[in-house]
Amino acid sequence: MNRRHFLQFLGVSGVLSSIPGCSTSPFTFSSTELPGLSPSLLDQVQTASGIDYKILIRWGDKINAKESFGFNNDFIAFHPLEDDRALLWVNHEYVSPTFINGPERTKENIDKELKEVGGSILEIKQLEKTWQVVKDSQYNRRLDANTKIPFAWNEKIAGKDFGVGTMGNCAGGKTPWGTFLTCEENYEIFWGDKTRAGEKTESWLGWDKIYPRSPLQYGWVVEVEPKTGKAKKLISLGRCAHECAAVTKAKNGKVVAYTGDDKINEHLYKFISDSTDSLERGKLYVANLEKGQWLSLDINDQPILKNKFKNQTEIQIYAREAAKLVGATPLDRPEDIEFDPLTGNVFVALTNNKQNKNYHGSILKIVEDNNDPASLTFKQEVFLSGGKEHGFACPDNMVFDPQGNLWFTTDMAGGEMNKGPYEGLGNNSLFVFMRKGEHQGKVMRVASAPVDAELTGPCFSPDYKTLFLSVQHPGETSPSKDKLTSTWPDGTIPKSSVITLTGPLLEKIVQGKL
Ligand code: FEO
Ligand code: CA
Ligand code: CA
Repeated sequence: MNRRHFLQFLGVSGVLSSIPGCSTSPFTFSSTELPGLSPSLLDQVQTASGIDYKILIRWGDKINAKESFGFNNDFIAFHPLEDDRALLWVNHEYVSPTFINGPERTKENIDKELKEVGGSILEIKQLEKTWQVVKDSQYNRRLDANTKIPFAWNEKIAGKDFGVGTMGNCAGGKTPWGTFLTCEENYEIFWGDKTRAGEKTESWLGWDKIYPRSPLQYGWVVEVEPKTGKAKKLISLGRCAHECAAVTKAKNGKVVAYTGDDKINEHLYKFISDSTDSLERGKLYVANLEKGQWLSLDINDQPILKNKFKNQTEIQIYAREAAKLVGATPLDRPEDIEFDPLTGNVFVALTNNKQNKNYHGSILKIVEDNNDPASLTFKQEVFLSGGKEHGFACPDNMVFDPQGNLWFTTDMAGGEMNKGPYEGLGNNSLFVFMRKGEHQGKVMRVASAPVDAELTGPCFSPDYKTLFLSVQHPGETSPSKDKLTSTWPDGTIPKSSVITLTGPLLEKIVQGKL
């Protein structure tokens, strides 16, 4: 979510300027040979012929006697258990107060909102080939804005060795040792922010007025154990609007995590761990794309950082400032990051940069030298551009299948869809870029979202027969509960939900038989 989204769901979009430089010619999806969808404006989840969807869980559904599934579900991760059972981690990114208890910033309303963010752990099992939530499973639990989470670091952060709560949980990742990573993205909407000089910015949701907390507790990557829900904030990966954390192994076995800062003109980071099974200690780097270099953010490697910062902890907290001092490249809002199973290359979704009149975004390919994630030099090129040629704009979350087909979702802002530069592109959708065979190089629209929603968090089951997908923020631009722009999924107030996609077309694509 960005500021425009936020103002829209508060019903104040009129204060925003219109987008300049709009194209007015409507776009018609051109890949007629592929069995994909055409752009749609319907308030429905639509799927391509040969793919069905079912709702797994909706906002507000009980997961045990005390807890409910939170608001605005986003990233999904799958942790297999025995006997066709599994645990799902699901992020709950932010809240739309209108749909919860009302826009008034009272303690009562904010207390409710604090419970709606963070994440859910859900046990699921397959019954007659359909994944279902196991209600009241011992594993079902919520993390929210009140959960106490220790900092994994050798010094205190803002005077504490723990943070209270996790929120802004956008995308994430999984580690080779089976833990979930959930990333605190736009933390400033909840708690504002604080510069190194001590200047404070206001939070948009006003939570800090009722519960004053240091914003330095947020903007971290959080690691969560699937079976216990035990969590820690990884200070090692720096503090920013982390979209995701994509983890792989270097040739020497050490773990490497890539993470993007989803804010206009912010940066792409890489953390090289000292260890094969932990992300707590190591070195943080930031990308300079012009030079093809990963630049160290270690105080002992960079005289300019030693000169400007008190210590390494301060660099981790103000990673953005340190990144700029060493010469990091400003990027067009880095979102999700995935590794190509065919080449090992690193794919980064750059969703857009409206300041630079880049409305459609692109997907960047990074080729590490020696094909080693621990390399400090790389080549890079644009892999795929958004726009009329390929029928999509604003790529966001991605997942590869074993054939190397790249499945990705888009995130055009609610009030902007099908207008101006987005005219003819319909609602946000799930697409697949075909890597091989007759349709190689083509982009197919697989599923289309309801009004105002984005599809997020695509996650395959290990057998690649089910794609879990979040339908996030349907009806977000509704000015009130009486004037709804969407009533998906059940004809009443809109509810973000996790859905499962299955069917012969999905299986054909992932088997490379289309
Ligand atoms: Fe929450 Fe960068 O999307
Ligand atoms: Ca997004
Ligand atoms: Ca996202």
